[in-house]
Amino acid sequence: MRVSIVGTGHVGLVTAASLAHLGHEVLGVDDDAEKVATIARGETPFHEPGLQELLREGLDAGRLRVSPDVPEAARFGEVVFICVGTPTKPTGEANLVQVERVSTVIARALEGYTVIAEKSTVPVETGVWVRRTIELTAAPDAEFDVASNPEFLREGRAVHDTLNPDRIVVGTSSARAMERLRELYAPILDRTGCPFVVTDLATAELIKHASNAFLATKVSFINAIADICERTGADVHEVARAMGLDPRIGPAFLGAGIGYGGACLPKDVAAFRHKADELGVGFPLLEEVERVNMARRERFIEKIRSAVWNLEGKRIAMWGLAFKPDTDDLRNAPAIEIARRLSEEGADVVAYDPVAMPASKPLLFAATFAPTALEAAQGADCLAICTEWEEFRGVDLERLRDAMARPAIVDGRNMFDPPAMADAGFTYASMGRPTAAPAPGP
Ligand code: UGA
Repeated sequence: MRVSIVGTGHVGLVTAASLAHLGHEVLGVDDDAEKVATIARGETPFHEPGLQELLREGLDAGRLRVSPDVPEAARFGEVVFICVGTPTKPTGEANLVQVERVSTVIARALEGYTVIAEKSTVPVETGVWVRRTIELTAAPDAEFDVASNPEFLREGRAVHDTLNPDRIVVGTSSARAMERLRELYAPILDRTGCPFVVTDLATAELIKHASNAFLATKVSFINAIADICERTGADVHEVARAMGLDPRIGPAFLGAGIGYGGACLPKDVAAFRHKADELGVGFPLLEEVERVNMARRERFIEKIRSAVWNLEGKRIAMWGLAFKPDTDDLRNAPAIEIARRLSEEGADVVAYDPVAMPASKPLLFAATFAPTALEAAQGADCLAICTEWEEFRGVDLERLRDAMARPAIVDGRNMFDPPAMADAGFTYASMGRPTAAPAPGP
């Protein structure tokens, strides 16, 4: 099938490369000419495991092309995916200007029956506007349907999630559009047997916002429990583990820490809350989810203060800058705000991240960067862990302790076992678990 993808950001580019991998002919379009040139060379504009290989495979096989020409996307694709950004306005509302602009350009260039599918995360009722915009702009005899086909991929696991989804959701009132999308995804459906969920447009749009809002709620819920654990000496890790054994609750997304970040959860919770207000129903639960999430950063900084007393003049090593492992994405990354706050309070921040340092440098003028985790820790009064990169787990604890000026760790991601860290000679504070310290000498 011929497929066009408008917008080659994280979702768009992964979708394009994955559909080409499945044997479709794919055209990726983006009005950022520099990004198009990068992708055309077989380079990915962001870090995503496995994507570069898939991209090169598609380009070499001639099944994947990129272009800055949006009208070409409308002429080429039997399905045209809208994957442009839907950033947050200061009020929390989703800014849908790019979705409208792309819909207009596509409408003018439509040729033959085309399915226009929203893949960008959009508030419920956006599809109605997309359809109306295209109807008003397209030639009277243009044949098209609008569908919602939300994406559930996670950054860092995006290729895997796209090729092995838990479900494929298609929202449309047109049987013809639904059949076309089923045919597009047939290679995945046949191989994995994953559910193909067909709904109306509004329901599909809501499934996406409801899913991300629920994930954020789980994270804030366990973070609120973490605070109660800290006051009572209980251990949030054990609470979450036992809660997760109940299949109605499940173990995922119950990791307490410095809160959720990234390009999706914070934006989507805000947009969903705003939409609920606009609809007159409100969603105050989501305001609380946001409040708990933002309070995590302050809580973490307080713990660093408790470890070193005054921040001024203290050397703080920071491990991890990306909002989560296996990505260089710094959008809404808690570490960035935490590093800035520490610097503002006079601390000397020395940061290390396996892949996100180049992107961090323009954001963190006051910090310095070290080439390895151990070098960042050299002479530090405290080590602050902000992202749970796998390489940190394998660190040589003896060398780490010897490198630091004071053996104090504040772990915002609960990576290590507290008693083991105390045995290794560290004062180890984490989130929602008792602080562990080496036993006093004889
Ligand atoms: C999220 C959703 O998980 C995807 O299903 C969705 O497709 C995507 O948004 C999107 O809308 O595009 P992503 O932003 O890549 O994916 O990141 P997640 O893996 O969901 O993690 C989000 C944040 O929650 C991270 O900062 C992570 O550290 C934090 N988190 C996650 C916790 O603090 N605790 C947990 O237990 C799990």
